Amino acid sequence: MKVSVGADHGGFDAKSELVEFLKLKKIEVIDEGTMSSESVDYPDFAEKVCQDILSGRAQLGILVCGTGIGISIAANRHKGIRAALLYSDEAARLAKLHNNANIAVFGGRTMSVQEMKQRLDIFLNTEFEGGRHIRRLEKLDVYGGC
Ligand code: RB5
Repeated sequence: MKVSVGADHGGFDAKSELVEFLKLKKIEVIDEGTMSSESVDYPDFAEKVCQDILSGRAQLGILVCGTGIGISIAANRHKGIRAALLYSDEAARLAKLHNNANIAVFGGRTMSVQEMKQRLDIFLNTEFEGGRHIRRLEKLDVYGGC
């Protein structure tokens, strides 16, 4: 499994730690930047990570901005992308179990790196439940016209 990771300047520090965390777990990482704390625009990094997933270069993504909100909005404009802001451990579990999220999103200014790592472990170790949730996910690609 390959994980594509991206962040703006608000998520740069956390992103660097998450990349190391994944590498220690022997998970292959595509680091799409940003590579410094210089101010950048979060839609550019959401775009790179979404394209990695939609092209099949990566199977999962991680995105980090200051709050996790802007970069979630940007990612969720893409058909086939389900980006979930993991604001709690339970949200991390349900984001995979029910929503089959393919991008985990964090807020670099609203969460500790320890919380992110714990939620990422939960997210990676939970399987999609399928069943009634498949019908709901299919409707995501029908409504909204994106
Ligand atoms: C950047 O200053 C900040 O707006 C961004 O990281 C994010 O929080 C947007 O939602």
